[in-house]
Amino acid sequence: MMDQQPISLGVCIKLGTNQIEEAGSVTARSDAEILAAHALNIPRNQLYFMFDHMLNSGEYALIKTFYDRRALLEPVAYITGVQEFWSLDFKVTPSTLIPRPDSEILVEAVLKYLKATGGINQKRTILDLGTGTGCILLSLLSECPNAIGIGVDVTTDAVQLAKDNAHNLGLGDRTQFRQSDWFDAVEAPNGGFDVIVSNPPYIPLPDMDLLMPDVKNFEPTLALLGGHDGLEMYRSIIKRAGSYLASNGCLAFEVGVNQVKAVAGLMQSEGFRNPTIENDLGGIARVVLAKK
Ligand SMILES: C[S@@+](CC[C@H](N)C(=O)[O-])C[C@H]1O[C@@H](n2cnc3c(N)ncnc32)[C@H](O)[C@@H]1O
Repeated sequence: MMDQQPISLGVCIKLGTNQIEEAGSVTARSDAEILAAHALNIPRNQLYFMFDHMLNSGEYALIKTFYDRRALLEPVAYITGVQEFWSLDFKVTPSTLIPRPDSEILVEAVLKYLKATGGINQKRTILDLGTGTGCILLSLLSECPNAIGIGVDVTTDAVQLAKDNAHNLGLGDRTQFRQSDWFDAVEAPNGGFDVIVSNPPYIPLPDMDLLMPDVKNFEPTLALLGGHDGLEMYRSIIKRAGSYLASNGCLAFEVGVNQVKAVAGLMQSEGFRNPTIENDLGGIARVVLAKK
């Protein structure tokens, strides 16, 4: 970034923005502000009253470290260790995917289904396959006060992360998280799960090289790669989901670009009925939900 000191916060953010922009980020100014606020441990909007603040050497060194990491295109959320999703703060680590705004469509779709089938205050049991940070399950439980849920992930570090997030959000007593290869360590509750939800890895192998460097170089392949055609994880899950679901229970997936027809078809061929599709804000079919 810059070597000379002392330097004001405003100048530091400006220089950092240039450094991060040159590295290829299209959100450089906001990245620089978020990272400076994180380094100073203040809310981002407080920065705007502090542009004349002269940074001491410790503050400067920490901000510079963060800017240097971002200039290597490390995602901002891995640097700050936190990502907002469904208006909740989730701790994130490189053990799993950073929650994406698109996945909120999956949460919305499941809530819509629950509202249409007895309401969100009923007792429900929810299984989240490939839970990662736990963002989908925990967001659903934050809206459904009498629901309980199990989240599984094949990565033990992700399981611990999801447990930490459940604890931090005050949802620890309604959740269980465990290591499992999809259903392998899951026992269906009496009568089956009311909802099985998943945002599985779905990037086709040939597309892995086309991912943005922030994603390709920093987020785990295990959270991204969905086999050669991107559908491998859907096939594994759909084959077994029926025997874990309550009669009339629903299976809901996030899907990748152009995958909705194939995934809905796989669900129908295993006996799932009336798939409904929800688009994301960009008009891309993003969620498919079907009843057993
Ligand atoms: C696309 S990420 C989704 C994470 C989180 N649910 C979200 O929406 O942000 C997929 C997750 O599936 C997990 N996963 C991959 N293969 C798995 C398997 N065989 N069994 C269980 N989880 C798996 C990955 O570790 C990763 O956390």
